[in-house]
Amino acid sequence: MRKPFVAGNWKMNLTKAEAVALASGLAAKAGAFGSTEVGVIPAFVHIDCVAAAVKGSPVGVGAQDMYFEKGGAFTGEVCASMLTDLAVKYVLVGHSERRHVIGETDALLNKKLHAVINAGLVAILCVGEKIEERKANKTFDVCKTQLVEGLKGLDKSKAGQLVIAYEPVWAIGTGLNATKEQAQEVHAFIRGELAKIFDAATAAGIRIQYGGSVKASNAAELMSQPDVDGALVGGASLKVDEFMGIITAAAAAKK
Ligand code: 13P
Repeated sequence: MRKPFVAGNWKMNLTKAEAVALASGLAAKAGAFGSTEVGVIPAFVHIDCVAAAVKGSPVGVGAQDMYFEKGGAFTGEVCASMLTDLAVKYVLVGHSERRHVIGETDALLNKKLHAVINAGLVAILCVGEKIEERKANKTFDVCKTQLVEGLKGLDKSKAGQLVIAYEPVWAIGTGLNATKEQAQEVHAFIRGELAKIFDAATAAGIRIQYGGSVKASNAAELMSQPDVDGALVGGASLKVDEFMGIITAAAAAKK
């Protein structure tokens, strides 16, 4: 049984005081997490104070990005040792905003994924199609390419450090979530591709989160799907009660 995993991607939001208050508010409710693993993913500049706010609680802290080099003259970038130093556990790799707004390529993301995993961190590799790709029936092709290229060279012995997030670009921040059927169809496809890349037993152990307009009100039906193992949440992770609704829905669905 895969442990459900719900993570809040706070993106480029919140002041330091707001980030600390949100983190503390969430940690205070840890008694209601049930079986769900919970992570928060603040902006780099808030990681240290958020990690302090959740210290001693089961809330894990992640980073939204990471550069693949170990250190040196890379102005503006952040490397793995800087993150492990702050007790970071997870790193997002290839969030759609990194791919489509910043222009990161599969080749770059593959280097980042290896750097994250080699540092002993958990990589959350994000994949998903744009609306025009879905309309052109290219959803599976796009997800497959992003998986195959992103995971190139990764040994199955490292699969315990891998989480996949399926985030259809058209569902992110739009209020238009994938239906439970749409999510399950792509999650099952992704698990099948993971079985080809690694093997069936390894694929069966990898958690696949759904992301894209997840809210407390739609979480139960999305989490009811067999291959949906949790959620990567944007806007709805910025309010403790709304985020808690998603966490408890995941725990209830995966009992
Ligand atoms: P929303 O939940 O705001 O749609 O964002 C999803 C997302 O991009 C999480 O990484």
